[in-house]
Amino acid sequence: MTTMESLIGLVNRIQRACTVLGDYGGVDNAFSSLWEALPSVAVVGGQSSGKSSVLESIVGRDFLPRGSGIVTRRPLVLQLHKTEDGSQEYAEFLHLPKRRFSDFAVVRKEIQDETDRITGKTKQISPVPIHLSIYSPNVVNLTLIDLPGLTKVAVEGQPESIVQDIETMVRTYVEKPNCIILAISPANQDIATSDAIKLAREVDPSGERTFGVLTKLDLMDKGTNALDVLEGRSYRLQHPWVGIVNRSQADINKNVDMIVARRKEREYFATSPDYGHLANKMGSEYLAKLLSKHLESAIRARIPSITSLINKTIDELESEMDHLGRPIAVDAGAQLYTILELCRAFDKVFKEHLDGGRPGGDR
Ligand code: GDP
Ligand code: NA
Ligand code: MG
Repeated sequence: MTTMESLIGLVNRIQRACTVLGDYGGVDNAFSSLWEALPSVAVVGGQSSGKSSVLESIVGRDFLPRGSGIVTRRPLVLQLHKTEDGSQEYAEFLHLPKRRFSDFAVVRKEIQDETDRITGKTKQISPVPIHLSIYSPNVVNLTLIDLPGLTKVAVEGQPESIVQDIETMVRTYVEKPNCIILAISPANQDIATSDAIKLAREVDPSGERTFGVLTKLDLMDKGTNALDVLEGRSYRLQHPWVGIVNRSQADINKNVDMIVARRKEREYFATSPDYGHLANKMGSEYLAKLLSKHLESAIRARIPSITSLINKTIDELESEMDHLGRPIAVDAGAQLYTILELCRAFDKVFKEHLDGGRPGGDR
């Protein structure tokens, strides 16, 4: 593993440990500022624009509920942890500690059940996130957040306030300066009406943390193409636009798997008369690589502030451990210790990283 990979891995594990600890006691503030200092990736877009499909593609696994209408009704905070080559792939929910899921169809069922548990089997939403971790040799270390889609009108069974409630919920994630925004717009709708671009532009006016993703290229009217968007003429972003072809509803109904879907997507771009010249900069796999590269430089740029925050957390944790006169839950104590160890490890790897870059190691 490169130093950068191990730094990102440590960042990921610190985020995870902070999550497990939740709002434990007085160190809560240190944890939430630590969490917020670490980059994550959130999807925004209108309902059924393809957000969940894009996230699944990035992970390379089928496990998210998808479909027409409002399917994603609670935020899903998804942490990917890269494990050693050859190791078994599994998933774990924060609300079901110690249960390992190796069947991803069961993971999807659990997301649906856990959504219903809070919202009822209705079209209601809840801002209470579901936390899921995936451990796999085939992922990059990354925190991804799936969110309900922005809507314009409440449908039968939803309160009038839902339009605003969803926007507020999405906003709390994407307004954080360390949130990388995947702004998802469907190619079969006018980009000028894109809810994703509208919100992204508001919270990230310079566009430095927004990635424009154009889905449903396969559903455009015959004789039209999306080159004006993909080549940045319709709406210019700092990062290049990425076009995507996800599985259609018919593909989902037929259980077309991820490997086949990716192959079809590659073929789509490679053989397209419109997009052939862009083929190596399109598709889900390219998007995943682009994101992990960006994440790496985002972490690199933030190393000084992350390190000082981590050192502050180490200090706070050490004095917290010293002053723990009253008995605390074994779990909470163990988690505090884990975070402390991870922070120390981060600090150590970071110093080696600096030393490695400069002969003599003086800083
Ligand atoms: P979300 O509501 O934004 O999370 O969107 P989903 O990922 O749940 O997808 C909504 C519907 O659009 C599903 O039926 C998908 O199969 C379909 N869909 C998403 N992306 C594409 C695409 O690129 N092409 C086609 N043909 N269908 C897509
Ligand atoms: Na949907
Ligand atoms: Mg969704």
